[in-house]
Amino acid sequence: MTHNTLEVSESLEERCNQILRNMEGSLTARDRVGLQDFVLLDNYTSESAFLDNLRKRFHENLIYTYIGTLLVSVNPYKELDIYNKTNMDTYMGVNLFELPPHIYALADNVFRTMLSEVNNHFILISGESGAGKTEASKKILQFYAVSCPSTRLLNNVRDRLVLSNPVLEAFGNAKTLKNDNSSRFGKYMDIQFDHQGGAVGGHILSYLLEKSRVVHQNHGERNFHIFYQLVEGGDEELLRWLGLERNCQHYNYLVQGDCAKVSSINDKSDWKTVKNALSVIEFSENDMEHLFGIIGSVLHLGNIKFDKDIRGYATLNNNPDLHWVSKLLGIPTQVLQKSLTHRKIEAKAEEMFSPFTVDHAVYARDALAKAIYDRTFNWLVNRINESLANKDSSRKTVIGLLDIYGFEVFNVNRFEQFCINYCNEKLQQLFIQLTLKSEQEEYELEGIEWEPVPFFNNKIICDLVEEKHRGIISTLDEECLRPGGATDLTFLEKLEEKLNGHPHFVTHKLADPKTRKTLEREDFRLLHYAGEVTYCVTGFLDKNNDLLYRNVKEVMRQSQNAIIQHCFPITEPDSKKRPETVVTQFKGSLVGLTEILMSKEPSYVRCIKPNDGKQPGRFDDVLVRHQVKYLGLMEHLRVRRAGFAYRRRYELFLQRYKPLCPDTWPHWKGTAADGVLCLIKHLGYEANDYKMGRTKIFIRHPKTLFATEDAFEICKHELATRIQAKYKGYRAHGEFQKQKEAATKIENCWRGLKARQEREKRQWAVKVIKKFIKGFMTRNDEVSSDNREYLAYVRQNYLTRLKENLPKTVLERNNWLTPPPIMKEASKLLQKMYIRYMVQKYVRGITPQRTAQIQMKLLTSTMFKGKKENYPFSVCRPFVDTRISEEDINIKVLQMIRHERIKYSVPVVKYDRNGFRPRLRQLIFTQTAAYLVEEGKIKQRVEYNSLKSVSVSNLSDNFIILHVTCEDIKQKGDLVLQCDYLFEALTKLTVIANNQTCIKVVQGSVRFDIQPGREGFIDFVSGQECMVYRAKNGHLMVESTRAKSR
Ligand SMILES: Nc1ncnc2c1ncn2[C@@H]1O[C@H](COP(=O)(O)OP(=O)(O)OP(=O)(O)O)[C@@H](O)[C@H]1O
Ligand SMILES: [Mg+2]
Repeated sequence: MTHNTLEVSESLEERCNQILRNMEGSLTARDRVGLQDFVLLDNYTSESAFLDNLRKRFHENLIYTYIGTLLVSVNPYKELDIYNKTNMDTYMGVNLFELPPHIYALADNVFRTMLSEVNNHFILISGESGAGKTEASKKILQFYAVSCPSTRLLNNVRDRLVLSNPVLEAFGNAKTLKNDNSSRFGKYMDIQFDHQGGAVGGHILSYLLEKSRVVHQNHGERNFHIFYQLVEGGDEELLRWLGLERNCQHYNYLVQGDCAKVSSINDKSDWKTVKNALSVIEFSENDMEHLFGIIGSVLHLGNIKFDKDIRGYATLNNNPDLHWVSKLLGIPTQVLQKSLTHRKIEAKAEEMFSPFTVDHAVYARDALAKAIYDRTFNWLVNRINESLANKDSSRKTVIGLLDIYGFEVFNVNRFEQFCINYCNEKLQQLFIQLTLKSEQEEYELEGIEWEPVPFFNNKIICDLVEEKHRGIISTLDEECLRPGGATDLTFLEKLEEKLNGHPHFVTHKLADPKTRKTLEREDFRLLHYAGEVTYCVTGFLDKNNDLLYRNVKEVMRQSQNAIIQHCFPITEPDSKKRPETVVTQFKGSLVGLTEILMSKEPSYVRCIKPNDGKQPGRFDDVLVRHQVKYLGLMEHLRVRRAGFAYRRRYELFLQRYKPLCPDTWPHWKGTAADGVLCLIKHLGYEANDYKMGRTKIFIRHPKTLFATEDAFEICKHELATRIQAKYKGYRAHGEFQKQKEAATKIENCWRGLKARQEREKRQWAVKVIKKFIKGFMTRNDEVSSDNREYLAYVRQNYLTRLKENLPKTVLERNNWLTPPPIMKEASKLLQKMYIRYMVQKYVRGITPQRTAQIQMKLLTSTMFKGKKENYPFSVCRPFVDTRISEEDINIKVLQMIRHERIKYSVPVVKYDRNGFRPRLRQLIFTQTAAYLVEEGKIKQRVEYNSLKSVSVSNLSDNFIILHVTCEDIKQKGDLVLQCDYLFEALTKLTVIANNQTCIKVVQGSVRFDIQPGREGFIDFVSGQECMVYRAKNGHLMVESTRAKSR
């Protein structure tokens, strides 16, 4: 066992226990009023204890009690609020023993078993007249109508199923002394279900209608309801059309019982219900017209009175009722009249009419009325069946409801009671067979240890009635068929002959003196399973023969009423061949019914009548005890208690429940019996709960089975979920596989495509590279197809690179990208063009001021370039117009020299000619002379004319020596100056003085005139630092650092 299955089975087990505990818990809770199941009765063999429980519950309005799965129902004779929709919902899908006993629980249980086991069922409802069989069957039908799945189509069927009831009850039920709504026909109804549980159709079988009631009712009884309903409820127009009066007292067929009005029956509203039901069952206006025509004609028939003619024969003279019958049945009056007063005799191919006496005519009239009504009733059942028929031929399962007339005993019991009680006898036999007898036989057969429960087997009574040659039916038929003088009394004599000494048969003649007192001469008494019934043989032969004169049938065939036409078909065997007698037909139909029932799974409702007075709340102990006895309830309980509620062939049991045990699921290898054993061990059945038979398992209590069934329900869902999950997984996996394959395919295609593209790219690349290499190798050759592309590439590449690396300024013009050989020439041209372009661009950008300045610079360059060491540093320093603005020149000086126009001023350091002391001075160039100024004083004026020359060293100092002509003694001598703007100042001077040649660049020493005739020297040297000092030799030593190259 895998870990998983272990877990599942453990949780299942736990749930099973839970369900069991719940069930048991609620069982005790529900048992507060008596016991809901007689099986739980301690003193289960005691009839009194049984009765006590029934009574206790009855007085608490708990009319239902179980004996295992059998439902005992006691007629409450009052409306209980236990049949509403809420109740129905409560009982839907709940196990039988989980809720208080109810007819709904039984109905639901049957329904669910049918669905799950896919088999046919029937519910046998039995009990004596007035015990509540018909009510029970209606409740069951109503429950199915509400609980079954519904669709519009199904609702249609459902409505017809439900509404067939009031129609059949109107035509087939009547008030008797026992029951105000007594079924006077037997009814077996199949409800057909599709596999989902939807009610899809139905079929009704009817059994022997008590038609004598049409013409005769005992005191205190009524005819069939429909007559009263029509007279009371039918609208005026209808009654007029039918020629009826709204008064039941007018009609002979309605007054014999002297109780046309019954407080418990509302004929007027019942009429409405029936009319509505008929239209739901799809009766056309025509159908209804004909149907009510027949009912009316029966009432008129009953009123036909015959007169006696002088010969004593019956005559009918202008009888209004006859006219109405003629009109309603569509038969000419004369024809009808003749058929009611004469009998056709065929003798030697000659037809003769023999007249009836009045009694005979009345008999013929009543026979016709009974025949018409009886046949119409059968037509009605067939018509309802047509409307209930399920057209779909697929397999259906059915639940059959058997509601038949109950066992009844009146003061005078006739042929009808004999048939009814015989029918009940047969059903009792079936019940015994299916429950007590077969059950015990089965235990024996299966080898189950068993203490036999004695029970009354009513076979002896059934045989008494139906045994061939000896039985009552055979004897009756013999007498009926015997030619010549057979009468009811000869029939009785025959019975006495044949049944003399039978323990269940007694007649006046055969009885002991004591019993004889209770019997009339025409009586016979049967000791039925349900008690003694004394039958009066009067009418037995006649009713059994059920003869309708041939000419009456012929006349009926002429009818214009469609239903009558249908009921008297031309194909009907004619009277020469005797039809089966009534009782033989009935016997045959009961055999048929038994066969139908035997092929289905049975469920039982046993109905009990609490009192004879139809009174609520009265529990007549004697009456109930009697019913408990003859219904065999005590025996049933004993068998239930001692026996097993449920049995199943091993194979079927295993097949159903094997998912509940991991060892049996999904397949069991051994025998089915071993499998079942393994399964129930796993489910934890106690040793006392079950027995293993030869071919079947027997389960003692229903609760054990229900617990198993509940576990199975849960398990089924789990399995379904697992299967669903597996299937979903399988589907998803399949889908995934498909997608994966598709993805792989797409991937492959894509990869292939990519690979091909890659290969093409590589091939192309190889070609390109080869060509490139070849081009490279032949790059210096003539242009050919080999190197054309390469060269184009080289060209383009060079040009592109060149574009990005062009010189930014004219000065960088030599910084030109080295061209490949083939571009050399072009490059040169391009370079030239580009430089020209740059120059042009540069030149265009130069202002006139800048031009003037550059010209000055050019002048400076011619004078100093390559001559004076620090000249290169000056190149980048632009010249300005003046270094001292006029505001900074002393006003006195300005006043003195302004007229000469100041051209340029610059601060200088003047070295004394003697001592070489430095002094700050301003050097001002005017148009005509250069002035050395100290504050407001002009220290020296040198006219340009008298400027001999200007000396500067070749080193990087800033010394300027202005050599002056010294003809004038007043002249002070040469000027030794130091000026930071040496090149600017000297260039300005040469321009202003217009003398370029005066500038001398000297090396080493400069001689100068301190004053005329007295010379001084300045020595220029390069050193580590800039220094000016008076050397020991009296020279001015100017040491300057070597200018670093730029
Ligand atoms: N469950 C019930 N609740 C209320 N009243 C009921 C119930 N069962 C029966 N009755 C009353 O008892 C009457 C007789 O019941 P019902 O007609 O079902 O008897 P029956 O067994 O069919 O008799 P029969 O054999 O004569 O047809 C009903 O008309 C109704 O008044
Ligand atoms: Mg009934």
